[in-house]
Amino acid sequence: MKRLTVPKIRQRKQDGVTAELLVMLTAYTARQAQLLDAHCDLLLVGDSLGQVIYGLPSTIPVTLDMMANHAAAVVRGSYHSVVVVDMPFGSYESSPQQAFESAARLLKESGAAAVKLEGGVAMAETAAFLNQRGIPVMGHVGLTPQAVNVLGGYAARGRSDAEADKIVTDAKALDDAGAFAIVVEGVVETIAIDVTKAVSCPTIGIGASAQCDGQVLVTEDMLGMFERVPRFVKRYEDIAGIIEKTVATYAEEVRDRSFPSVEQTYQPKK
Ligand code: KIV
Ligand code: NA
Repeated sequence: MKRLTVPKIRQRKQDGVTAELLVMLTAYTARQAQLLDAHCDLLLVGDSLGQVIYGLPSTIPVTLDMMANHAAAVVRGSYHSVVVVDMPFGSYESSPQQAFESAARLLKESGAAAVKLEGGVAMAETAAFLNQRGIPVMGHVGLTPQAVNVLGGYAARGRSDAEADKIVTDAKALDDAGAFAIVVEGVVETIAIDVTKAVSCPTIGIGASAQCDGQVLVTEDMLGMFERVPRFVKRYEDIAGIIEKTVATYAEEVRDRSFPSVEQTYQPKK
């Protein structure tokens, strides 16, 4: 299977219609990428790895080094999906030049195909700057977790008319700047409809209803690795439960001396 390309993702939406919805999941490690790759169109090395892998309280402390290292692992573990890397907080906001330097580093060190950045109108010039210089950009509007200190939390966005209008304006600005797709996070269904209609590129929803051109979830959330997940997450499995049960069995077998048994034990050649 040949790796999908950014233009092929962009072309999934033609004249406002997306016949085959885009499937994206987060991946942070090579093995995880191997397991997800064939089923997805895009793998997102999300800065959510701050909380999910590193136990950080938000995505704010995530660094370029973390993103580059995990992105490289995900590229090594995949051969089909387009790998997109989140630009971490503080690595792109101050100028298009700063963003280019950070994004170029991420792509050079990982082999990923594109970057994602949060923000709409304020980041449109930067998105165009990167795109014109060989770095495809995925946008991210609505609930933007890197703005947690400004937003005051992770509540759904767009419940007032002014907020709703701003989200549509943000998405349009990114679309005009050449973004190849836009993540729409944590918005009411009517906004997902308005944004998806307003932009020519595909929208990828998370907590944004079934009205987008694709969907994304944090893989650990949908696998049931965590007890507390947002309402928009469907837990398809209880992986944490499976791990706990398995580890309890291992611990019991070590303590009662039933592991290792003869099958797992080397003997000298006769
Ligand atoms: O960091 C992340 O995982 C994301 C997705 C939730 C869209 O940005
Ligand atoms: Na993110």
